[in-house]
Amino acid sequence: MTIRGDSSATGVNADATAAAARVRGWLAGARRCLVLTGAGMSAESGIAPFRGGDQALWARFDPARLATPEAFAADPDLVWAWYLWRMAGVRAALPHAGHRALAALAGGHPHLQLVTQNVDDLHERAGSAGVVHLHGELFALRCAACAAPAALPALPAAGQAPALRQPPPRCRRCGGAVRPGVVWFGEALPAPAWQAAEAAARSCDLVLVVGTSGLVHPAAALPAIARRHGARVVEINPSPTALSGAADLCWRATAAQALPLLTDASAKPGG
Ligand code: OAD
Repeated sequence: MTIRGDSSATGVNADATAAAARVRGWLAGARRCLVLTGAGMSAESGIAPFRGGDQALWARFDPARLATPEAFAADPDLVWAWYLWRMAGVRAALPHAGHRALAALAGGHPHLQLVTQNVDDLHERAGSAGVVHLHGELFALRCAACAAPAALPALPAAGQAPALRQPPPRCRRCGGAVRPGVVWFGEALPAPAWQAAEAAARSCDLVLVVGTSGLVHPAAALPAIARRHGARVVEINPSPTALSGAADLCWRATAAQALPLLTDASAKPGG
């Protein structure tokens, strides 16, 4: 079933209300729930996603020059400057109503596991705990040579023109170049994060897939793993994706529109 959530004057129309009621019912009946978020989750906080439209990061920048270990080895100053710019953008961003709704949902559900592909900290800043970061964390800096954790340097002010090149800080232990704590193309996911995500997929009854194109594996395999183990899959995304065909319900709405409709507060009259 496909339920369209076109916005009306109030932002809530009959279709969105029907989708919300259905998903709320599934949430209430689920013993375990997995929420998988992607870059679309952060879009309404002003952080550009990777794909889809002219402003998407991979439409404007070449991932082969910026998001691989080879790129960092070849031109660390270019890669570090780009990540400084991204860190400054994330620092200036605020969680939106969808992030807060997920934190509230977890508060009312004993077994809700939030798994994100996002390297920002917006889920945590909205109050979510125990978030699994499949693709690492932007601010978890470490030495590229010895993996020692490194302190965050001063970030450029929001709105300041980004430097095109900036040498990365040096590791205090071994002098190696400091790198962002993200997973680059060609690198393995952090094993504990993947194990936790896969275990959640195997054991859940319901998956909410929010704001991911479903193109990057292995993260994109999680809904199918859950489905094979009997879970229902709900996609919340304004556009069709590689995962839509395997969803029980595609809710065509944004994260900030849809997720607040799933909380208890929204179910109460006047909420
Ligand atoms: P993508 O940028 O590939 O996809 C973003 C998805 O979010 C698209 O399907 C959009 O339709 C949807 N979207 C856009 N705005 C939205 C909104 N307001 N609410 C809900 N959905 C919205 O992002 P990911 O699937 O997360 O990896 O990308 C996966 C990985 O590819 C990223 O983690 C990153 C990237 O390369 C690494 O950097 C390792």
